[in-house]
Amino acid sequence: MIKNKKILALTIVLMIVVAGCLIFNLYIFSPIRLRGLYQNGEAGIADNSNLISVGVCQVGSESVWRTANTSSIKKALAEENGFFLRFSNARQKQENQIKTIREFISQKVDYIVLAPVTEYGWETVLEEAKEAGIPVILTDRKVEVEDDSLYRCFIGTDMYGEGKKAGEWLEDYCVEFKEPDEEIDIIVLTGTVGSTAEIGRSEGFNSIAQKHPNWNILESVDADFTTTKAREVMRELVKKYDDIDVIVSQNDDMTFGVVEILDEAGITHGVEGDVKIISFDAVKKALRMVRDGEIDADIECNPNQGEMIASVIKDINRDRTVEKINYIGDMTFTIYNVNGYINSRNY
Ligand code: AHR
Repeated sequence: MIKNKKILALTIVLMIVVAGCLIFNLYIFSPIRLRGLYQNGEAGIADNSNLISVGVCQVGSESVWRTANTSSIKKALAEENGFFLRFSNARQKQENQIKTIREFISQKVDYIVLAPVTEYGWETVLEEAKEAGIPVILTDRKVEVEDDSLYRCFIGTDMYGEGKKAGEWLEDYCVEFKEPDEEIDIIVLTGTVGSTAEIGRSEGFNSIAQKHPNWNILESVDADFTTTKAREVMRELVKKYDDIDVIVSQNDDMTFGVVEILDEAGITHGVEGDVKIISFDAVKKALRMVRDGEIDADIECNPNQGEMIASVIKDINRDRTVEKINYIGDMTFTIYNVNGYINSRNY
């Protein structure tokens, strides 16, 4: 009797131990716990994971274009495509980006994708990534560094080319509608000073402007790529100048602010108006305004860069050679060609 009781007690203890082990294992390897660890950055990708871990350092969420760019990147670097994504929004501050890159390095990500806010001041942190053996892929905007081995490649649009297209559109317009030596007074609303989008678009436009001594750039004013800032600066500019012929606004979000202020001030603009407007990005809302004759020309900047980023990472992973500079094409929209492009735009 006593012997039977001992066996029963031992069996119960054994069963409790086995059940305990089972529950512990289920917890340790549960996908929810593992996902929690990855997202909090407390652990690297598990050894048996086939996912490529990528830390993306985005500029911010300052514009419609940026939101579309972020969606494209998140979609392409999703788990079903073989990636584990850590995403960070720098709120348009370089110091946030530098901090994030250091976090990505300590988390031992496989790749870093960086859309730098501005071009300067990247040497130290990119050297740290290089020493850690993590390839850095630049997207959308570039960095100005002496040693270009600090980044693996660039994927984005040709900002200088975009600025040039804006100048070429104005050249064509002047040939058709202006006297050869007529003074053309221009205001330029720039995006974030020191960003590739600002530098490229300004230099590209100036490369055409300098061929025309009658083009007179009254002022270049920073409106940081946002509608709010554009409203603010435009309000002052319409008080200051009563002879503006052309406004070159370096993104659509700023253009929305410009149009509001011109309307408030009773200044006509666009195809039939007094002030010609050239914009950049070509988001859906702006393309509708091109169709309606409110904006004269919109130079496209394609935000759908995610797929190219994913494919370049996979190429590097397979030891295939990748081009240093990878441009995504874009076009110029006017009232004459915009129909047919509006409905298919998803941003
Ligand atoms: O760097 C690309 C630019 O940044 C886009 O033109 C603008 O909309 C964005 O904020």
